[in-house]
Amino acid sequence: MKLDISSIKGNELEGKKILLCITGSVSSMESPRIARELIKHGADVIPVLSRSASKLIGSQLLHWATGNEVITSLTGKMEHVQLANGGNNSVDLILIAPCTSNTIGKIAQGISDDSISTICTVALGSDVPIVIASGMHEPMYDNPILQNNISLLQKYGVTFVSPLIENNKAKMANFDDIFNEILSKLFIQDLANTNILITTGPTIEKIDPVRVITNNSSGKTGLALANEAKKRGANVTLIYGDGRESPPTSIRTIRVSTSQQLLDVTIDELSNHNYDFYIASAAPSDFRILDPSPEKISSREKNSFNIQLEAYPKIINSVKKISPTTKLIAFKALFDSDSTNVSKSISEIFNDSRADYVIVNDVSRKDAGFASDYNELTMFTSDHDSVNFPYNTKKKLSKSIFDHIVKNLT
Ligand SMILES: Cc1cc2nc3c(=O)[nH]c(=O)nc-3n(C[C@H](O)[C@H](O)[C@H](O)COP(=O)(O)O)c2cc1C
Repeated sequence: MKLDISSIKGNELEGKKILLCITGSVSSMESPRIARELIKHGADVIPVLSRSASKLIGSQLLHWATGNEVITSLTGKMEHVQLANGGNNSVDLILIAPCTSNTIGKIAQGISDDSISTICTVALGSDVPIVIASGMHEPMYDNPILQNNISLLQKYGVTFVSPLIENNKAKMANFDDIFNEILSKLFIQDLANTNILITTGPTIEKIDPVRVITNNSSGKTGLALANEAKKRGANVTLIYGDGRESPPTSIRTIRVSTSQQLLDVTIDELSNHNYDFYIASAAPSDFRILDPSPEKISSREKNSFNIQLEAYPKIINSVKKISPTTKLIAFKALFDSDSTNVSKSISEIFNDSRADYVIVNDVSRKDAGFASDYNELTMFTSDHDSVNFPYNTKKKLSKSIFDHIVKNLT
């Protein structure tokens, strides 16, 4: 079910159905918020309440929070089979948050006497991933029988998000930790422990306090790449120019306005962190305005005026000088007739920046490129081998790009 909050914080979970099972813990008051956060990252969330949980929070609240009917008992629809058998109507993942000691014990021992334990019994047989975030008092958590049950379930592939031990309580983990575990179960983690710096979006140069020179870039390419890398387990930092998109809240994002700021932040990041990859997909203004007016220029006072521009140093040419081991993937926007000079243009980029790959796109197309959700790309290596990524959504292109990078550069 799509809600007005769907994907407002990112689309990492778009197309994914998550069964949120809620058991009878004080932490069950957190569950509607967890449901809403998952939806804000694109998921469709189906809630299931245990009988004890339904004494603590109400079905109506969860119905409102998710837009879906709440499952409180199994019926002739065979919800346990339909939702957890790994088939077409099955969910992609089961999250039990919070999970009581009681429910952990039942799942570990194969007991299926209510909706949640029965659904999990099916899921353990069908390989639908189960993520458990427990919440309870510390003595309950330290019970050796519970600890044995946790170890047993881990052996069968169930993921536990470690609780936060505080004030004699083993509190349910925070949403970010639960979210990261969900991503790691749903997507192949072939970029785990990889640090990636991505620049994206336009920059602006001020003519006077109210007027700017900029371009039509939206930053959607870099955002799609950042999302894809994050899903695959990378630590992503995004440097985002003056675009109007909302970067996912789960990605560390540094906002910049001018090309000078983009250059300064890039140098700072590369000097102070170990980046495995630098992906330059921003569309910086290549020129700075030499003498911007400190006051608004009035058309009553001036019929015409000249703006003098000076070329900025190319940011990508600094990357290998500061961090020689960082793999550099540079995007090059060509405009229509430039396409005839692709070869010359690419050779210059490889010579000057020592890039590992140059990805070319034609921004003169109306159906692709700047501001569009679609593009067509060609990726070149320094010896001018090329791979074409045919016309597709920027999301799908990002997947193909990282498939290629993982295969050839990691
Ligand atoms: C107010 C209240 C809070 C509870 N909090 C927890 C808790 O945080 N963790 C836990 O394991 N059990 C807790 N319990 C006990 C469980 O609700 C109880 O074991 C129940 O049988 C669990 O059933 P369920 O697993 O089907 O939800 C709590 C009970 C009450 C009445």
